[in-house]
Amino acid sequence: MLRGVRRKDIQYFLKWLDDPEISKPLDRYLPMSEIGEENWILEIERKKDVIVFTIVDKKTREPIGNCGFHKIDFKNQRAEVGILIGREYWGKGYGSEALELLISYGFAQLNLNSIASLVVSSNERSLRLHKKVGFKVQGRMRDSIFVDNEFHDMLYLDILRSAWQRRRATIKNKTLF
Ligand SMILES: CC(C)(COP(=O)(O)OP(=O)(O)OC[C@H]1O[C@@H](n2cnc3c(N)ncnc32)[C@H](O)[C@@H]1OP(=O)(O)O)[C@@H](O)C(=O)NCCC(=O)NCCS
Repeated sequence: MLRGVRRKDIQYFLKWLDDPEISKPLDRYLPMSEIGEENWILEIERKKDVIVFTIVDKKTREPIGNCGFHKIDFKNQRAEVGILIGREYWGKGYGSEALELLISYGFAQLNLNSIASLVVSSNERSLRLHKKVGFKVQGRMRDSIFVDNEFHDMLYLDILRSAWQRRRATIKNKTLF
C-alpha cells in the first residue's frame, strides 16, 4: 500500500539510503542525516510539484520503501517518478506493485498525461521494473551520471496516459490511500 510519509518513517529512509546499492543509482552521494530527512519531509509538504508516499506491507504495515512524483507540471500534465525499496525486500514484486499503484494515482487522480523516469543504464533491475509496468525507453543522456569512478548513461523512459489506459484492465485488487 501507499500512504503519506510519517515522521517515524525517517529511520527507515536513513537505513535504506545508507545502503550504497540503493543510494548510488539514485545519485545520492552526500551523507544523510536525521535532521536533513526531517527538513526534506517539511519541504515536500510545502512544495506543490512533489508528492511522496511511503510504501508499506499490506499485512504488517511495516515500511518497505518509498516512491513519488517530482517536477509535477500541472499545466502540461506531466511528472517524473522515483522509487526505492529496502534491500531485504527486493525481488518479491513490491517494486512493480508500488510503481503500478503510483502511475495509476498519477493518471487517475492527478490527471497526468505523461509520466517519465530517469534510470541509470546499468540499473537492470530498475529498467526491468519500469518496462514491466509499461514504461518505454525514449532517449539516452550519454555520460550523465558519475558513479564508482566512471560515467554512465542515463536512460529517459516514459509512459503516456493512452498506453496506461490500454493496460489498466489488468490492474486489480490494489489498495491506495
Ligand atoms: C529498482 C527497485 C525499486 C526494484 O524493486 P523490487 O521490489 O526488487 O522490484 P520487483 O521485485 O518488482 O522486480 C522488478 C524486476 O526486476 C527483475 N530483477 C530482479 N533482479 C534482477 C537483476 N539482478 N537484474 C535484472 N533484473 C532483475 C525482477 O525479476 C523483476 O522483473 P520480472 O518480474 O519481470 O521478473 C529496487 O531494486 C531498488 O530500490 N533499487 C535501488 C534504488 C533504485 O534503483 N531505484 C530506481 C531508480 S530509477
